[in-house]
Amino acid sequence: MAGQKPAMIHINSLTYRLGDRLLIDDATAALPSGARVGLVGRNGAGKTTLFRLIRGDLSPESGAILAPKGARIGSVEQEAPDGDETLIDFVLSAHVERESLMAEAERASDPERIAEIQTRLVDISAHAAPSRAARILHGLGFDDRAQNRPLSEYSGGWRMRVALAAVLFSEPDLLLLDEPTNYLDLEGALWLADYLKSCPATILVISHDRDLIDDAANHVLHLDRGKLTLWSGNYTSFERQRLEAQALQGKAFKKQEERRAHLQAFVDRFRATASKARQAQSRLKMLARMEPIAAIVDETVQPFK
Ligand SMILES: Nc1ncnc2c1ncn2[C@@H]1O[C@H](COP(=O)(O)OP(=O)(O)OP(=O)(O)O)[C@@H](O)[C@H]1O
Ligand SMILES: [Mg+2]
Repeated sequence: MAGQKPAMIHINSLTYRLGDRLLIDDATAALPSGARVGLVGRNGAGKTTLFRLIRGDLSPESGAILAPKGARIGSVEQEAPDGDETLIDFVLSAHVERESLMAEAERASDPERIAEIQTRLVDISAHAAPSRAARILHGLGFDDRAQNRPLSEYSGGWRMRVALAAVLFSEPDLLLLDEPTNYLDLEGALWLADYLKSCPATILVISHDRDLIDDAANHVLHLDRGKLTLWSGNYTSFERQRLEAQALQGKAFKKQEERRAHLQAFVDRFRATASKARQAQSRLKMLARMEPIAAIVDETVQPFK
């Protein structure tokens, strides 16, 4: 919305349990205002659940998700829209404020209120709305003729595109997209990546489409065993940074294993030798004190389709 700062989301010590599974485990992350964030994590990790928590459809067991007061969150419903409405009308009606101002302008009789409404309509560029809606629909594969047909003439997949067009058109402060390329073709996916790059909203997009995240995102939020880590950069840079971190961890682990074996060998050899018993004892203590370095239990963020 014009003049409003986009949302910045704080996820604070968030915990969410599903049955006996701790899906989100004391996770903390902050999404910078205007960031375009790819949310990645393996299948069933809890990405969609995190979206539901952000939207407030689910309540966390503990912790909180904080957004600026009045921030509008936009997302695509799982159910495709349907009905007699034309695509263009459906998309236009997604801009709730414009829609209600226009309705009020028809009814209002108080000249002062009418002037207020007109000013606000100008502020939100309401006059440009129809062409903006048409442009979005066009980008997602609907020509002028198609835009004026009713939703009911289209299959579920195409109607999901209309739902996507509507949420893009509504200009939320925080845009949540869950696997949008599932119902887009290559052309649509490329258009979406471009559109997202020009979008002032804070964007959180779940996608197995590496190209989309590489192209459109400037941050990656990784949900891994209940924890959230925010990395800056696109997917390729995230993968590289992670591989480097893993390589370092792997080296440290190997080194520790060697040291452990060395100490143990000394203990085994000299434990029974009176003159070395003290040294063996102290090495045993060292062994006990060694902090375990987690072995590389790698969870690949794959598979990418
Ligand atoms: N309504 C439900 N009832 C029972 N289990 C559920 C329900 N919804 C999700 N789950 C389980 O919760 C876990 C997290 O699901 P979620 O959909 O959040 O994961 P995800 O990261 O979005 O996975 P995907 O990549 O497959 O979309 C999964 O193990 C899933 O099987
Ligand atoms: Mg999901």
